[in-house]
Amino acid sequence: MNPKKVVEVEHLAYFISQLARREEVGLIADLGAGQGYLSRTLVYQYDHPVLAIDSNQIQTCGAERQLQRTEKFVNKTKKPLSASGDQISPGDAPTNSPAPQPWLVCGLHACGNLSNVMLKWFVKSTAKCVVNVGCCYNMMGLTEGTISYCPFFPISQELTHKGATLSVNALKLACQAPTRWADQTTTAIGNFERHYFRALLHYAMVDRGLVQPNDPFPVVGRLSKTAFANFSTYAQRALPHHGPAQLSNSPLKVGDLAYYDTKLRPQAARMAIVWTLKALLSPCIESLIILDRCLYLVEQGCQVDLVPLVDPNVSPRNIVIMATK
Ligand SMILES: C[S@@+](CC[C@H](N)C(=O)[O-])C[C@H]1O[C@@H](n2cnc3c(N)ncnc32)[C@H](O)[C@@H]1O
Repeated sequence: MNPKKVVEVEHLAYFISQLARREEVGLIADLGAGQGYLSRTLVYQYDHPVLAIDSNQIQTCGAERQLQRTEKFVNKTKKPLSASGDQISPGDAPTNSPAPQPWLVCGLHACGNLSNVMLKWFVKSTAKCVVNVGCCYNMMGLTEGTISYCPFFPISQELTHKGATLSVNALKLACQAPTRWADQTTTAIGNFERHYFRALLHYAMVDRGLVQPNDPFPVVGRLSKTAFANFSTYAQRALPHHGPAQLSNSPLKVGDLAYYDTKLRPQAARMAIVWTLKALLSPCIESLIILDRCLYLVEQGCQVDLVPLVDPNVSPRNIVIMATK
């Protein structure tokens, strides 16, 4: 576990355990359990029976391997802890109680739409409580390049009636964490440069007729750190048919790249200002997504609490939604 995950898991496991004892919970279902860090902490540190569920077989196998290591390390097997490779959806929420006592549903960093699925699953199930921390709002059912509105927002009637919508750009913005910039100056400044490269390449592609002015920026995917050494390197790696060989057949030549950088470099500072103003809206968008989830639970008759789990500079997605029926 990296240091950030250690902090998140420690705090959330303690929080869940307190709630579980108060509500006399006999079973915890960890949805989207990933490598099972939270599940194992709940089992080995707090003695709760846990059912860990993740739809990704690689994650589930990894979790099982880690569990065997933990058992060797602590020199004891504390069953029951089961791992399941199921993909949860609201339609298959258990309506029969899986345990004689009340049970609890939880999810740490339930990414994209998994948080909404989890809350709907909880409402339909016989579970007594839910503890949810969301993340990766950009993955809420949209593929990059589409300009439509998120189909999974809002889920509450209240915001639906108010006509609230979020675009793909707003979802991406919600993932930003401007409060961390002060502590991570080098990364923050590096990110300004990346935004500039991206905008500059888009400009050059439009200028040379590779894309139309209203076309979204083509999907680039994840690039290594070395790709951002300078604009020319970035452009050659980022172009959909990347590399000098392909560039030589296109109206945008490798030799042109430095020209665009020289011409537009003075705009980089202005872009940083615009990007900063945009990023400052990110907490508002995240709050709207979380508010929608809370309103949904309230509309379904649940008692809802919002709890800040850890310092947002350590872990920006730090708000826990906690609800009981
Ligand atoms: C961001 S990871 C978080 C993993 C873990 N909770 C943690 O904090 O380390 C989200 C996990 O949810 C799983 N997942 C996403 N949608 C799911 C679904 N509908 N049913 C079950 N698992 C799902 C993914 O496979 C992924 O492992």
